[in-house]
Amino acid sequence: MAAGDARKHEKAIDISGLDYAFGEHEARKQVLYDIELAVAPGEFAIMTGPSGSGKTTLLSLVGALRRPQQGRIVCVGSDLMRLQGVELEAYRTGLGFIFQLHNLFPALTAFQSVQMAADLRDDLPGDKMERIASLLTELGLGERLHYRPSKLSGGQRQRVAIARALVHRPALVLADEPTAALDSQNTEIVLGLFRRLARENGTTVLMVTQDARVFERADRLVNLVDGRIDSDSRR
Ligand SMILES: Nc1ncnc2c1ncn2[C@@H]1O[C@H](COP(=O)(O)OP(=O)(O)O)[C@@H](O)[C@H]1O
Ligand SMILES: [Mg+2]
Repeated sequence: MAAGDARKHEKAIDISGLDYAFGEHEARKQVLYDIELAVAPGEFAIMTGPSGSGKTTLLSLVGALRRPQQGRIVCVGSDLMRLQGVELEAYRTGLGFIFQLHNLFPALTAFQSVQMAADLRDDLPGDKMERIASLLTELGLGERLHYRPSKLSGGQRQRVAIARALVHRPALVLADEPTAALDSQNTEIVLGLFRRLARENGTTVLMVTQDARVFERADRLVNLVDGRIDSDSRR
């Protein structure tokens, strides 16, 4: 599935009756209960909630890193209950996933990290090299293009990971506390970038954060408490 196709769907994320449990039998622990969530293409949604409420689990289900057990979960046209093999791989490759703990390869420079992500997708429009440089520059790393992670601060590394997730202009960006390691100036830069992608590119962004200062920057605020959607408001 090409990223462009994904923007045609009526809902970018369409979840209903989704439950999820870890473990089995006596060790079974349910962490998501009857989740209903629909996010429109081009929407910038923030998911928040206390630690342990199930945010990362839900994000990993949307990202097809975990297999759904019960309910319906259709994202950018793919039914994640059914998806397997090459289609599952293509779905994951098409996403922009920003993990809580990014793993940059120590041997690669900022530019090379992003280039490797770009090279995974052979249908990127435009000049790849120019796009990599301008994206890193937009994220405040213009002077650090050829630095390895050991020469970058935590916040700079996180911004490399963000560039890596966005370089292929994914239709759907999933970000797990992406600004936790960033100061307020860099948080603004990243939020501005997400908003711009949503507005100009039709990118759907689902971002987990516990930072109340950024709630107002999103179109949508979903609050997850003890595995249930406690509130869901459009702004
Ligand atoms: N791999 C796992 N195995 C068992 N329990 C898990 C696993 N991952 C998370 N949990 C449990 O699921 C619940 C939700 O976790 P998580 O989705 O990480 O919450 P959040 O991201 O909101 O902090 C927590 O009680 C956590 O302990
Ligand atoms: Mg989490």
